[in-house]
Amino acid sequence: MKAAVFLLLSLGGALGLKICSFNIRSFGENKVSKPEILKVILESITRCDLMLVMEIKDAKGKAFPRLISQLNRKYTGPKPEYGYVISHRLGRKTYKEQYAFVYRKKLVSVKSVYQYPDTQPEDVDAFAREPYVVWFSSPTTEIKDFVIIPIHTPPESAVKEIDELYDVYQNVSQHWKAQNFIIMGDFNAACGYVPKKEWRNIRLRSDTSFVWLTGDKLDTSVKESTKCAYDRVVLHGSTMIQAVKPESVEVYDFKTKFGLTEEEALAVSDHFPLCISVNAAKRKT
Ligand SMILES: *[C@@H]1O[C@H](CO)[C@@H](O)[C@H](O)[C@H]1NC(C)=O
Repeated sequence: MKAAVFLLLSLGGALGLKICSFNIRSFGENKVSKPEILKVILESITRCDLMLVMEIKDAKGKAFPRLISQLNRKYTGPKPEYGYVISHRLGRKTYKEQYAFVYRKKLVSVKSVYQYPDTQPEDVDAFAREPYVVWFSSPTTEIKDFVIIPIHTPPESAVKEIDELYDVYQNVSQHWKAQNFIIMGDFNAACGYVPKKEWRNIRLRSDTSFVWLTGDKLDTSVKESTKCAYDRVVLHGSTMIQAVKPESVEVYDFKTKFGLTEEEALAVSDHFPLCISVNAAKRKT
């Protein structure tokens, strides 16, 4: 019996955690209603145990729940496979976006949610879309729990917002007694939006307690004519850093995977999902 369970677990390999981020450009009704686009999005999500979804533009608030019910229809268990949390619509004027996290309920649960208030004295409204921060519990992994600080910067203020994430980290680490942090998303951290000379002014980069897993050469853009490391993953906390192998960084090229033309791929998004894997908890022997 024990051997059988062990075999199942090792075959499934499902004890670690694949965590991805995906800017699904202008995600809304329009995309859920197109089967050929929906198929690619669903496949991108089911490859992961937890996904940060960005650029949700869904004024009626129906498209994202529809996506989740389509996702859960792929599974036959007694309970839905995936759960989600979603932010309010964030933005300075009429243009709004939402952040959401979709997660496999067997492996992950939400401990707490914190909408970063973005009201620091003398630095009010630093972000166009202030991070919607979530503390997750993941008992099957080496780290047991971790916080994700998500960000989608506007390209023209990428330098400022990436730098300000340092303040968000400080604020969250005082708010919660958490040790493990993942800062991820579409930083727009490449291709002219973050000139080389600016890196030294970005505290999230110059403070060496933050580990940038993704290099400046990584290409997360779908367009053939651009090779840009827009999307990034940054880790903080020694246990967190040890629990992620740098070689687990993966850009999921759905264009090649589904044999799409550039135009068809761009109809899904201008970004590929970016993934990392957190190690499974070491088995007691
Ligand atoms: C986080 O920032 C908000 C807004 O500036 C502030 O009101 C709050 O006290 C801060 N929390 C902590 C724990 O520093």
